[in-house]
Amino acid sequence: MDVGRRIETVLDNAVSHAEAPGAPPLLAEAIRYAVFPGGHRIRPRLCLAVALACGDDDPATSEAAAAAIELLHCASLVHDDLPCFDDAPMRRQKPSVHAAFGVPLAVLTGDALIVAAFETLARGVTRSPTRLAGLVGLIARAAGSPAGIVAGQAWESEPYVDLVEYQQAKTGALFAAATVAGAAAAGAPPLPWRLLGECLGAAYQVADDLRDVACRQEEIGKPAGRDATLGRPNAAALLGMGGALERLKHLTQEAIDVIPPCRGQDAMRTEIEAQTRLFMPASLRAMA
Ligand code: IPE
Ligand code: IPE
Ligand code: MG
Ligand code: MG
Repeated sequence: MDVGRRIETVLDNAVSHAEAPGAPPLLAEAIRYAVFPGGHRIRPRLCLAVALACGDDDPATSEAAAAAIELLHCASLVHDDLPCFDDAPMRRQKPSVHAAFGVPLAVLTGDALIVAAFETLARGVTRSPTRLAGLVGLIARAAGSPAGIVAGQAWESEPYVDLVEYQQAKTGALFAAATVAGAAAAGAPPLPWRLLGECLGAAYQVADDLRDVACRQEEIGKPAGRDATLGRPNAAALLGMGGALERLKHLTQEAIDVIPPCRGQDAMRTEIEAQTRLFMPASLRAMA
């Protein structure tokens, strides 16, 4: 099965549990709506690519880790779009979850997806309790406080924000979880993989900030120009378009340079080069 199918299958399985008989029908519908159809699925791809580079000796475990990370990402998008955060009426080319189902169900959908992420790990990682414990710790760290998504979103309520710290928490942490969890799922030491995830996450958020300025809503499937309207710290405002493009190039090169030695190092390099080329939409590539 190719990687894309593996990801969709394991996510479908995870979401099915939330749809079991007895579930409130609208909540079940909203949970599926938040996960399918997906976006880039870049984090679970990264997780599986690292697992493969480390031998992937327990595919059920790497798939559970990849799914857990994507479920947390989907939860973060649902909550991020709420009126009390970025107030975005559109996501992934369709009405955001609160626009389609209302705010109370959107809050609960995000909550349910966070819980489903850890339930998916518990169900899927059956061969090794040690790997399960490690994965729960690594992935939880990326979701919560002091340095995960929750912390990242909370920086928006603080009077003073450091851009790098903010972006590392709201985006870099989950990318780092994808790389370290991929290694841990395959029984390899996870820490050498953290820097790769951090560089990719930093690059991805810079690219997202550029898209917010330079792209139209139809191209990115979510509102454009939001960061300036909301006064969000972002790379385009802080560094200018040219400076942000330079930083993006520097971070992608750094990511390629820090791929740890491993069995599948060449394949990993090819995968990272292919992924990072997609960070920038066509309309911005000419400027790079
Ligand atoms: C959007 O992430 C939020 C950021 C952290 C920039 P993605 O661009 O990966 O969203 P989807 O999953 O493809 O919709
Ligand atoms: C995303 O940052 C952070 C999350 C944790 C979801 P953005 O607010 O820039 O992401 P988009 O642009 O809404 O996708
Ligand atoms: Mg947003
Ligand atoms: Mg953005």
